[in-house]
Amino acid sequence: MDAFLPEHKRTIYCGRLRPEHIGQEVVLCGWVHRRRDHGGLVFIDLRDREGLAQVVINPEGSVEAHAKAEALRVEFVLSVRGTVRRRPEGTVNPNLPTGEVEVAAVSLAVLNESKPVPFSLEDDTDVAESVRLKYRYLDLRRPSVQSNFLLRARLARSVREYLFENGFLEIETPVLTKSTPEGARDYLVPSRVNPGMFYALPQSPQLFKQILMISGYDRYAQIVKCFRDEDLRADRQPEFTQIDAEMSFVDREDVFRMFEGMMTRVFRDVLGKELSSPVPRLTYREAMDRFGVDKPDTRFGLEIADYTELLSKTEFRVFAEVAAKGGFIRGITAPGLAESSRAEIAALEEVAKIGGAGGLAWFKVTGQGLTSPLTKFFREEQLKELRERSGAKPGDLLLFVADGFDVVCASLGRLRLHLGEKLGMIDPNLHHLLWVTDFPMFEWDKEEKRWGAMHHPFTSPLDEDLPLLETDPGKARAKAYDMVLNGSEIGGGSIRIHRKDIQSKVFGLLNIGPEEARVKFGFLLEALEFGAPPHGGIAFGVDRISMILSGAESLRDVIAFPKTQKATCLMTDAPSEVDVKQLRELSIRVTTPVKN
Ligand code: AMO
Ligand code: AMP
Repeated sequence: MDAFLPEHKRTIYCGRLRPEHIGQEVVLCGWVHRRRDHGGLVFIDLRDREGLAQVVINPEGSVEAHAKAEALRVEFVLSVRGTVRRRPEGTVNPNLPTGEVEVAAVSLAVLNESKPVPFSLEDDTDVAESVRLKYRYLDLRRPSVQSNFLLRARLARSVREYLFENGFLEIETPVLTKSTPEGARDYLVPSRVNPGMFYALPQSPQLFKQILMISGYDRYAQIVKCFRDEDLRADRQPEFTQIDAEMSFVDREDVFRMFEGMMTRVFRDVLGKELSSPVPRLTYREAMDRFGVDKPDTRFGLEIADYTELLSKTEFRVFAEVAAKGGFIRGITAPGLAESSRAEIAALEEVAKIGGAGGLAWFKVTGQGLTSPLTKFFREEQLKELRERSGAKPGDLLLFVADGFDVVCASLGRLRLHLGEKLGMIDPNLHHLLWVTDFPMFEWDKEEKRWGAMHHPFTSPLDEDLPLLETDPGKARAKAYDMVLNGSEIGGGSIRIHRKDIQSKVFGLLNIGPEEARVKFGFLLEALEFGAPPHGGIAFGVDRISMILSGAESLRDVIAFPKTQKATCLMTDAPSEVDVKQLRELSIRVTTPVKN
């Protein structure tokens, strides 16, 4: 091994070499990605965070370097001095940005060796994710993984520059704090000096950013870690990062304008893509009616249509009964699926059933008209009207679900996504951004039999819906909005309540009594009485945006040290047991040690 001397310092990243550097002497530092012996010539693909460069070691060039090169193995750490030259005719690699050039080595220093790696670091390696996560430091060396983190860093830089240029102040908020109302379970941290007391890790800086507005720090923003102990999915991690922002003296339009601007900048800086402006908007109700979800993927059509009126008049009992109970009969026209077998239709029915549907009614559209086991319940003109209303063509398949609003939306929303994928209607290169607005203030919690806040309890109702708080709270809409990208919720926020009387009313509806309100967020309520300006804001999920922009399939691919589905870190083995002594200091006794 060689000492790291000043002459070994890098002059250029491997991945940045281009024909313009031909003739220059350079020093590259990196890891041996591949090594090939060609009758005396040794070729090394040297890798650093920017990419790969081909190094050629010729025994005639440097005997010493050549001798060292013979002993090299994958992942050894090198410093190579050499001259950049054009690759010989026929050896240019058009798949590599550095593929037109190579470095003819003059000298080579082996700065460190490596044990044989447990899996190949080639991009197309098929290796279990658990192994990748255990050896995350090796996995992070893979070029495709590295490119995700370069993208994420460009995203963070772009956001910071934009927010800075728009006058946002970066202010840090505490991590050891009190429970924040975002609806997930808290991660708790015991306090040694206050035995029996616990901090909660913030689910978001929500309360602090509102306090900062009250303190006059108009335009706050922070790229900040949040913690939520919820059931994990591909798009949820227990600790994740928000771009969290709040502004004073603004209405919704100001927030929309500011953050459309931010996303425009991000798309330009990160993907070199121009967003069409303005970003389209859908109300929550429209999104549910047309797509069955509040985060629609609008890259494809297949919209849901309502047939309640027409179909409730047929003799099919299920339809009549559902309509009589105030439910809905809605459907989707699946193009070209009329040839589906019974088994294929049964598979579609299973998808609808995940959303709660009792069944899936279907009609095949043929040149002669509609065919279905249900046609016997229909009059001729009803079949004709159904066909006309659906706009279906021969070869299409009509699919219907009858049930209450929530089930119809959930079932058809799922079915729509399933069909979009099955029929290849989703172009992965498209980016469809939209705002979803006018969310309901409250959602009914069936288990607890009470209203819950759909966003959080500090969200302001629409001015025109204020009277509904007294008469019909379920119908009251909020000044809340989400930003949706390709069917994923990437951001959400609201204009906040800044008046104590409205806040008390909302707490009342949420069944949060004065004592509970005082214990949980008394400091905010008190602060609201000392000159709170009108304010509102938003928070974006950095992990989700990075995932979508990089085309990754899981948040784990854009988080350097992510947690598994079971909220563990396979590299560090967190969480882990602790010393009895530590527990004693914290006045904690573990009653049920969980062993798996
Ligand atoms: P919300 O709860 O909607 O709003 O969160 C904002 C955004 O954060 C991302 N996100 C997550 N990303 C990964 N893993 C998770 N477990 C996770 N949970 C949320 C989503 C989401 O859109 N305080 C409010 C914001 C406000 O009102 O200003 C809040 O936290 O992309
Ligand atoms: P059945 O009368 O239960 O044999 O159902 C006849 C057809 O109607 C089957 O294709 C069922 O899947 C479908 N069906 C049953 N319940 C519903 C419903 N709630 N909505 C739509 N279709 C249904």
